[in-house]
Amino acid sequence: MRHAHLPVVVVGGGVAGLATALAMAPAPVRLLCRAHDGCGSASALAQGGIAAALDPHDSAAAHAADTLAAGAQHNDAAMVQWLAAEAPAAIAWLQAQGVVFDSDAQGRLQLGREGGHGAARIVHAGGDASGAALVQALRARAQAATHVQWRGGVDVDGLLLREGRVVGVRTRDERGRHEQVEAAAVVLATGGIGALYARTSNPPGADGAGLALGLAAGAEPRDLEFVQFHPTALDVPGHCLPLITEALRGAGARLQDADGNALMAGVHPLGDLAPRDVVSRRVAAEQAAGGRVWLDATGVDGDWERRFPTVLAACLAHGYDPRRSALPVTPAAHFHMGGLAADVDGRTSVPGLYAVGEVACNGVHGANRLASNSLLEGVICGRRLGRLLADVAPPAPGNGPLRVVERGASLPPAQLAALHALLWRSAGPVREAGSLRDAWRACSALAEVGWQARLAKMLLRAMRLRRHSLGAHWREDRGCPR
Ligand code: SIN
Repeated sequence: MRHAHLPVVVVGGGVAGLATALAMAPAPVRLLCRAHDGCGSASALAQGGIAAALDPHDSAAAHAADTLAAGAQHNDAAMVQWLAAEAPAAIAWLQAQGVVFDSDAQGRLQLGREGGHGAARIVHAGGDASGAALVQALRARAQAATHVQWRGGVDVDGLLLREGRVVGVRTRDERGRHEQVEAAAVVLATGGIGALYARTSNPPGADGAGLALGLAAGAEPRDLEFVQFHPTALDVPGHCLPLITEALRGAGARLQDADGNALMAGVHPLGDLAPRDVVSRRVAAEQAAGGRVWLDATGVDGDWERRFPTVLAACLAHGYDPRRSALPVTPAAHFHMGGLAADVDGRTSVPGLYAVGEVACNGVHGANRLASNSLLEGVICGRRLGRLLADVAPPAPGNGPLRVVERGASLPPAQLAALHALLWRSAGPVREAGSLRDAWRACSALAEVGWQARLAKMLLRAMRLRRHSLGAHWREDRGCPR
């Protein structure tokens, strides 16, 4: 057991951060998040559920094989096998935390199917409100836990370093007041980068702030070029768009062009349930040709209020009734497979700094994440990291000077909106050398102005360096279809 009195600081109140904090008991944790109530994470918006081979005819080996196929075999195979093997136990642990998964009349868990899965192995909670159900249950546990000190309404905008080791964080509250918090270790569980794009299924806080901070402290990046685009966000004006879950296509919804023709016919053997990158590119191609794409879910049977309450409410709020007419859809930035390079225990290349969940890249997702593997990763890797940190005594504090590494100023709103549009145009589902180069140059010119431009420049650099298509990274100029 660790004996030091300093807490571990966990930054981020999504599933990965919560699982890490809970697993640290009884060692002290300070959980810091931007929102006061811990809401606002991408986890809370996740509609797809959690993948686990629970059917007697399914296996962890089959789940692992599907994960590797989706990831274009760019994954760390050992990580994948471990994740798939641990998945059933993760479901049982979540149930013990109070998550109620959807079950049939006999009390058996209902197993759904999503794109890229060769078997029905997705469990849901509250229909398409799985992420919200997980966050709610884990947050209640964390807020009741005596070892977790919760602080909302703060942004972590700096890391404290001493003798090359991360020894704490600098927070900034809503009034702009800074505070330094020393820590035995710092865990970044800050989510992804979707909100750097003009069209995203992520919340505004998924803007890459944690990734930028880790990179500023010298942590190694990995696989930054791999960004997953979800093919079906609701095509309405705005930046952060409502997601239209893939489970609807699993239940029979079909993509159509403006004339009602099946969009995926002849494109891929799995049709509407082809891998997300394939479907996203097809939708993007139709849009590039001036067409609009529609998802016809009117044939989906059953109780929409119970199975798809989140989609139904979002569509009705925008004036669409998915039970009666087709929905306009668009691809949207959804998940970052890349991030801070982390080992299986979440260690980054900087001592004292850990990363877990979407901000981390431990290789499990490869070049393209399989549907419903992200909440799973957050739970399994978070618990592993929490148990490790509960047992590891921090090194004795050094005497060297304390250094604050800052993320730096944000771009002014107009320049930030322009950056979002630039990334959408040049670094979206389809990429090519010329526009990647021009975007990289534009970001270089802004690099001193705001951290988002510095981060975008690093993303674009990785996209330029990977000159051939792989997984979600599609180079139109040098594509090599799988
Ligand atoms: C979805 O429900 O379509 C998204 C699920 C996921 O991203 O894993």
